[in-house]
Amino acid sequence: MLDAPTAVDPARVTLVGVADGEVGSDQVRAVWDDLAEFWDEAMRSGRTWQERLIAPAVESLLSLRPGEAVLELSCGNGAFARQMTSAGARVVASDLSPRMIELAREHGGDVDYRVIDATDVSAMLDLAQPDGYDAAVSNMAVMDMPAVAPMAEAVHTLVRPGGRFVVSLLHPAFNSGDVTRVVEESDDHRGVVRTHSLRRSTYIRSSTHQGVAVEGQPRVQWYFHRPLQDLVNPFFSHGWVLDGLLEPVLDEAEEGVFAHLPGVIVLRFRRLADSSPGTG
Ligand SMILES: C[S@@+](CC[C@H](N)C(=O)[O-])C[C@H]1O[C@@H](n2cnc3c(N)ncnc32)[C@H](O)[C@@H]1O
Repeated sequence: MLDAPTAVDPARVTLVGVADGEVGSDQVRAVWDDLAEFWDEAMRSGRTWQERLIAPAVESLLSLRPGEAVLELSCGNGAFARQMTSAGARVVASDLSPRMIELAREHGGDVDYRVIDATDVSAMLDLAQPDGYDAAVSNMAVMDMPAVAPMAEAVHTLVRPGGRFVVSLLHPAFNSGDVTRVVEESDDHRGVVRTHSLRRSTYIRSSTHQGVAVEGQPRVQWYFHRPLQDLVNPFFSHGWVLDGLLEPVLDEAEEGVFAHLPGVIVLRFRRLADSSPGTG
């Protein structure tokens, strides 16, 4: 945990008193190396939203065809990468955390795993393939990254013209930043009734804060809240167009606010067929 800065522009102070730009990839990597075993176990025991909520939405926007070359950034324990190889894709999968990549490799599968920081353009460009990737994907990690533009820039060069980039993340409006989940309990002719809602008082400013993805995780992680405009504009600036969007919700039987309000958003960006690398 960083000491709170002593003299910063108040407009740049965030939820935990950390100024924009003060938390970088080294701090994020240290957290995810420490969380790797816990995350791997949470994924394998189905305690994350990956299998039931995120993967189906991402698969539907990716629409993979057998034989396609796919680049995954922030692959975690590689579960989605292995799923894509089962669908016949050729997959290069990368993550910032060396420990996470070790665990991914231990799970086996025909995936080319690499340790790569998705905020480092030149490191990402090392993943280039002669004909370009048909598609790229990043699941549930953009809100863990201190910058979005490097990924938008590098992946636009790495995918072929016409290729797509599917990005899933915590929903900026309903599940990011200054959000309080509220449960109200009453009783009436139906018995005990619980009503779920959300309360938030800030949204429009990007902010850095700490929190947990899965209850019980051994340490908190960094989150970088961005309003939708700060999330998608770096993609538009680097030549992407948005051509697909899903807001999956949990099954009503799971109860809770995210059965009615989307906790996740999945975006599909496309590199225009006639665009040259790194341009529109
Ligand atoms: C919530 S986990 C999601 C993992 C996996 N995609 C999944 O859906 O299970 C976030 C992942 O993002 C990775 N990550 C965070 N910052 C990153 C960065 N700058 N570059 C690449 N990966 C990063 C973490 O190491 C971690 O594996």
